[in-house]
Amino acid sequence: MKILGIESSCDETAAAVVKDGSRILSSVVSSQLDVHGKYGGVVPELASREHLRAITAVVRQALQQAGVNWSDLGAVGVTQGPGLVGSLLVGMTYAKAICFSRGLPLVGVNHIEGHIHAVAMEAADALQYPALALVVSGGHTHLFEMYEGSRYRLLGRTRDDAAGEAYDKVGKLLGYTYPGGPILDKLASYGDPQAVRFPRAKMKGNALDFSFSGLKTAVLRWVESHDMQAEIAVRRELGKAEGQSSLEKWLAVTPKATLDLIASFQFTVIRELLEHAEAAAELIGARGLVVSGGVACNGGLRAAARSARLPYAVFFPQPALSTDNAAMIAAAAFPKFERGELASMGLKASASLALA
Ligand code: KG4
Ligand code: ZN
Repeated sequence: MKILGIESSCDETAAAVVKDGSRILSSVVSSQLDVHGKYGGVVPELASREHLRAITAVVRQALQQAGVNWSDLGAVGVTQGPGLVGSLLVGMTYAKAICFSRGLPLVGVNHIEGHIHAVAMEAADALQYPALALVVSGGHTHLFEMYEGSRYRLLGRTRDDAAGEAYDKVGKLLGYTYPGGPILDKLASYGDPQAVRFPRAKMKGNALDFSFSGLKTAVLRWVESHDMQAEIAVRRELGKAEGQSSLEKWLAVTPKATLDLIASFQFTVIRELLEHAEAAAELIGARGLVVSGGVACNGGLRAAARSARLPYAVFFPQPALSTDNAAMIAAAAFPKFERGELASMGLKASASLALA
């Protein structure tokens, strides 16, 4: 049973063919980084326009790479939300048109569930339930209790910025190109994570909720009180000239004190993520922890989770499946298809679609 997955919730146009929910036959991702990079973040109108431009070629390439025809497909799975509505609409309209013209069933997929399936499809046999899912990306920071059969209970979520958003905002503040996450992650390993002591976020109410805006403001205050404008201007110029520059070039324009600041920022983000995940795991008696979403690429987070010696297995997706892709959408569509959870042509895009 082969499912074509289509993903267009943010700034990646993606299509993939996945067999039986776990065997990836193809996964094509067309990124819009070059378009949004110079604005320091995703510009929604430009994103939908770029999706329109890319989608036909991306879907065609996914079918070609998988070596399949339309008639080999059993269903189309498409991201319904959460995400940018204009962007979601492009993928959804395209998916509906395929289903209508080819007589294929349509499955609407929650993007966050897709991220969880990026791990679940690789770890299907090893994962034991109840499991905990930590989804950390540019748009989401959510903790779910996860039971067999794709059932979820929300345990905590960010009250303000998502973890990846905090990386991107701090990256922009310090003069690096968008997205800040990957470059700050690399630079962090050259700094001292204990150099700047950022406080823990104080949380009223649900102690499993997250907050990253206070940390972002603390970094801003640190920058304002440390005369960093000249070095930041140099980095902005480098970004304008080269876009995503090499690590060596960024290192050359990043003094030790700034590397220490970045390492301390990363340490604080990871501490918040892992402390909450550990508390939640204890609360539900988790037998496994799944970490997914763009921030799951983070080397520091992976190393910290490994060295924490947790009493349950921890699963990260391979980096290519951590960030937005359509293989995870096709994988998440498979169990829904099997349960008969098909969508009608009236399926609506939802900017804030909840998973649980
Ligand atoms: O999952 P994703 O591709 O898109 C969303 O659903 O948001 O995640 C993108 C986010 C961006 O904020 C990016 O900065 C962050 O993931 N990211 C990272 C790393 N790689 C990507 N953050 C920290 N460390 C990384 N290595
Ligand atoms: Zn995502």
